[in-house]
Amino acid sequence: MFGNLLKSKKPQAIETNGLSDDDMEPHVNGNGVSNGLASNASRFTMNNGVSELIRKPVIETKGITKTYKMGDEVLNALSGVDITIYQGDLVAIMGPSGSGKSTLMNIVGCLDKPTSGTYKLDGVDVEKMNDDQLAGIRNQKIGFVFQSFNLLRRTPSIENVAQPLIYANVGGRERSKRSREALEMVGLGKRLHHHANELSGGQQQRVAIARALVTDPAIILADEPTGNLDSKTGAEIMCLFQTLNAQRGMTIIFVTHDPRIASHCKRVIRIADGRIIGDDATVDFLDACRGDTFRE
Ligand SMILES: Nc1ncnc2c1ncn2[C@@H]1O[C@H](COP(=O)(O)OP(=O)(O)OP(=O)(O)O)[C@@H](O)[C@H]1O
Ligand SMILES: [Mg+2]
Repeated sequence: MFGNLLKSKKPQAIETNGLSDDDMEPHVNGNGVSNGLASNASRFTMNNGVSELIRKPVIETKGITKTYKMGDEVLNALSGVDITIYQGDLVAIMGPSGSGKSTLMNIVGCLDKPTSGTYKLDGVDVEKMNDDQLAGIRNQKIGFVFQSFNLLRRTPSIENVAQPLIYANVGGRERSKRSREALEMVGLGKRLHHHANELSGGQQQRVAIARALVTDPAIILADEPTGNLDSKTGAEIMCLFQTLNAQRGMTIIFVTHDPRIASHCKRVIRIADGRIIGDDATVDFLDACRGDTFRE
């Protein structure tokens, strides 16, 4: 399965053109060295064409609604959302505040259930699952990254990353090994024992990404992962996402308000008032690892 890509590869720092573990300050270079994204750009210009026919859908929602009752008032947070996300997609979800982005991410991430509609995650019908079943499939197939990192602050990176493995009943030695590998993968092999509060914002978000990767999920979901970061550090995180996507084939979906961040994705889905109003492949998405696309 696609999720085994991580296991099948020798753990090593992915090549992010300058993001190394000994110095995690962003030193993305501007020398134009490609990390393979340029060739992907042309491959995925066909996103809504022939290539989709042979790509495997990992998320399929049909007619998803989410209604909240507030006293006598009914609030429609989502009003019939149909989306299909394919294996290897790198998708930005954009829309105004209150448009339903987080509600959609929570449903896609099995943190919440839709009021109506159907949802297939990696081929499995999830809309009728009970809470325990949802927790199980969530742990198995999805890695989350949050805007505020959600790390245990006085806890070493390696233990923060190991948290999802504890829930998955993975033994201690295996937990340490896999957590170390995940941290090496995001370029933090030399920060294993730093506590979260001893790391920069960008490094903390990398720990959070390692925590999302450690269970070898099919999909990474991130709700405004660069929202609390300056633009240079945001580019660093985008470089990491692009590299995980290009080199490891990971499916990555994230919410952003920032059009510059979205311009680094293969596809942009727009939402307004709980409905999808746009879904476009990015013809020439930018390479965040080049470092010249985020100059102020
Ligand atoms: N638990 C809840 N109870 C009631 N209403 C809710 C709840 N969660 C969200 N809503 C409402 O649903 C709508 C969509 O909220 P959502 O959090 O999905 O927006 P968003 O697009 O993520 O916004 P933002 O960009 O500000 O994060 C909003 O009007 C919000 O007030
Ligand atoms: Mg939100």
